Formats: sequence, structure tokens, C-alpha cells
Amino acid sequence: MEQPDLAKADTEAAIDRQTDPQPAREVLFELRDVGVTLPAGPGGREILTDVQVEVGTGEIVAIVGPSGTGKTTLLRVLSGLLRPTCGTVTLAGRPVTGPSASAVTVFQDYATALLPWRTVAHNVALPLEGKTGKAERRRRVREALEVVGLAERAEEYPWRLSGGMQQRVQIARALVVQPQVLLMDEPFGALDAITKASLHDQLMDVQAQTGQTVMFITHDVDEAVYLSDRVMVIHTPDGPGTPGTIVHTVTTGLPRPRDGIATRDLPGFHAARHELAEVLRDGRVGH
Ligand SMILES: Nc1ncnc2c1ncn2[C@@H]1O[C@H](COP(=O)(O)OP(=O)(O)OP(=O)(O)O)[C@@H](O)[C@H]1O
Ligand SMILES: [Mg+2]
Repeated sequence: MEQPDLAKADTEAAIDRQTDPQPAREVLFELRDVGVTLPAGPGGREILTDVQVEVGTGEIVAIVGPSGTGKTTLLRVLSGLLRPTCGTVTLAGRPVTGPSASAVTVFQDYATALLPWRTVAHNVALPLEGKTGKAERRRRVREALEVVGLAERAEEYPWRLSGGMQQRVQIARALVVQPQVLLMDEPFGALDAITKASLHDQLMDVQAQTGQTVMFITHDVDEAVYLSDRVMVIHTPDGPGTPGTIVHTVTTGLPRPRDGIATRDLPGFHAARHELAEVLRDGRVGH
């Protein structure tokens, strides 16, 4: 198979980055002036403040940031599971007032996300029950399990699987819905390097075919740059314990399809990783 000329495409992408930082896309998610205060002690605790987000249809966006800065909280706001204390959240122009059928969330806590009394296949089939015929359900479950590399384990119970496998079952259960929006909280955290690399590429293939919008949280800057169109950094600019906000966004501008080795050799990849590492260390841009 002929490889795309990644070096040339990267130069072009770098030029694009200067002139057109955002490809023209229909806005899917829009958060304006979002703040979240959760109950904790007298008066509650401000977790997020002044969050502004715009995500286009078909974009892949990563969220990175130190522990406890509000990444999961932001994902819960996006998924409609948590109403913000202030500000507005819209999905395709409509206010988000609760969980939407077009957005599916993969949670951080995979250990409690699966039903122990159901087999892997029946866990994955759960969101389709009552919505599709049996034959279609079987086909889609098999396809989703193939994407995550667990087709062979379909008839086992989740508690017989390793943590990384349980996490992949959860991803399969999200993919089977073929959602318009996929929201994932540290979906690759429990995986070994080889499984992770293969799942990255499988998920990018699925996304390229379906045009899904994907937002995911990760602690891995390399992974964030490799997979995403944009990487948002959440930090607490006023110091630990103060509210989190998006302090910086990096547009990666890397060409697709990406290649696990060649993409990581591109100057644009290094530049994005360097910029993110600095912001994560300092909590803001510039020093
Ligand atoms: N239900 C809750 N009630 C009160 N405070 C909460 C609640 N959930 C989270 N918090 C607090 O909100 C802050 C942000 O939590 P969150 O889970 O969003 O962080 P995170 O960035 O996802 O961290 P990690 O990387 O460790 O997963 C933390 O200080 C946490 O203690
Ligand atoms: Mg979290």
C-alpha cells in the first residue's frame, strides 16, 4: 500500500495552521461561560469556572490536565449527566438538559460499568435491546468486539477478564450504538502499549468511516497529539485547589490517516507535544 507523503502533508498542515487554525466545520458542542460548583462543606466547592468550548462535527478532541482539575466533571457536563451551575451548553444548537441518545459516554471507572451477570456479548448488546432485530444486534455486537480485539471472549463473563479487557468491553458497548458523539474518560488508561496502539488505529478507522465526533480524556500527551485534531488543557491557573478552566488549546494540524510510527516522527507532532508539556508543567502559556 502506498504511504501518504506525511512530511509534505505536514508542511502543508503547518502552513494551514498559520492561516486557518480551525477547519470550517459545523459547530456541534458549544459551552459558554460554564461553571460548576459541587456540594462540599459550607457553600460548596467551585470545580470549574469560565469554560468556553466549541467542538465541530467530526472533530477528535483530547482533554488533558493534572488530576483533580475537573476533566471528568467537564465530560459529565458534555454528556448531560451534570447540569452546570452557570453558563450554557448546546449540542447541535439545542440546550443540553440531560443525557442525549446521540452521545454515549465511556466512564473512567470501568470496574463498575459492566453487569457481572451478563456475558461480554450481552453487556455489549445492552444498549441495542428493544431497538434492533436479533440478527442485526448479533452482527453489530460481533463487529464492535472485533474492533476492540475481544471477539474470542464474547461468551465469557466480564469478571473473568483483565482490567484492560473490561475497559475494551466498555468501549465496544459504546461503539455498538454507532453514536454521533463518543465521550470517553481515560479509555486507554488500563491498556498495555501494543493493545493501546492497535485500538488507537482501529478507533481512528471507525471514526473516519462514521464521521463521529470524539472527545476523550487522557493523561498521556503523546496519545492526545497522535489521535486528536485539537488538545485542550484543563488546569487550575490560580493554584491547586482552585477551580479548573481550559487554559490552552493546541491544534495539532497533523494529516490523516495517521501512522503509529511516521506521524510521531513529524516536526508538527514534536512541536505540539512540546507546547503541551510546557503548559502542563507551568499551568499556563509562556513562563
Ligand atoms: N460529586 C462530587 N462532589 C463534590 N466534589 C466533587 C465531586 N466529584 C468531583 N469532585 C471534586 O471535583 C474536583 C475535580 O474532579 P474530577 O473528577 O473532575 O477531576 P479529574 O480532572 O477528572 O481528575 P482525575 O485525573 O484524577 O480523574 C476534585 O477536587 C473532586 O474532589
Ligand atoms: Mg477524571
